[in-house]
Amino acid sequence: MACNKRNKRGILITFEGIDGCGKTTAMHGAAEILSKEYKKIVTFRDPGTTKVSEAIRNILLEPNLNMSVWTEYYLYVAARAELVKKIEPYLEQGAIVFLDRFYDSTIAYQGFRNGIPLQFILEDNKRIGCPEPDLTLLYKLGPEVGMQRNISEGKQNRIDQESLDKHKKVYEGYEWVAKKFKNRVRIIDASQSKEKVLEETVMIIDEFLSQ
Ligand SMILES: Nc1ncnc2c1ncn2[C@@H]1O[C@H](COP(=O)(O)OP(=O)(O)OP(=O)(O)O)[C@@H](O)[C@H]1O
Ligand SMILES: [Mg+2]
Repeated sequence: MACNKRNKRGILITFEGIDGCGKTTAMHGAAEILSKEYKKIVTFRDPGTTKVSEAIRNILLEPNLNMSVWTEYYLYVAARAELVKKIEPYLEQGAIVFLDRFYDSTIAYQGFRNGIPLQFILEDNKRIGCPEPDLTLLYKLGPEVGMQRNISEGKQNRIDQESLDKHKKVYEGYEWVAKKFKNRVRIIDASQSKEKVLEETVMIIDEFLSQ
């Protein structure tokens, strides 16, 4: 498994999809397996990773805090601005950065679900210097199944309590992302077993890095 891409700048791989589709499970599983071959894999999450961004994440996921769609949107942007500063040196040093959600999530949730104009989102991404992901794995799962998985886990956050209709809008948002950025998006059927999803994840990333 030669990795020519590694010789250039670092590689940014994002993991996307609706709540409970298995992003975090697949990302950490793939990082563990692929780290044996590729030495410079690091895993981060958005929102989160830095102290400030984790503090903002806690506000965003606190079920008892109600906020306007604009407050929510700018908190995500603020958390991401910090994260981008953290990621850049890793990419400059040639690392392979696995990122659990990134701005495609904002397009789907704050854009399609909450009605923040997509143009603002795309402009703010540029303003805060978001790098374009090299590869995005989109875990595709019907909204009902995703909600059910998180409920059976006992995971409760503000997003999970919202209606199924809102989840459906998020799903549509990801369909838009898949079309708009088809050069970097690879879709994985997330209704398969965890083992199969992990196998496909590892295979796609390995193929990508060896190109
Ligand atoms: N392929 C799968 N089949 C069945 N259950 C799965 C699968 N992948 C993950 N799960 C389970 O579904 C739940 C949600 O998984 P996970 O936390 O990885 O999803 P996520 O996409 O990161 O969710 P969130 O958007 O809430 O962060 C967990 O209980 C996990 O063990
Ligand atoms: Mg997760």
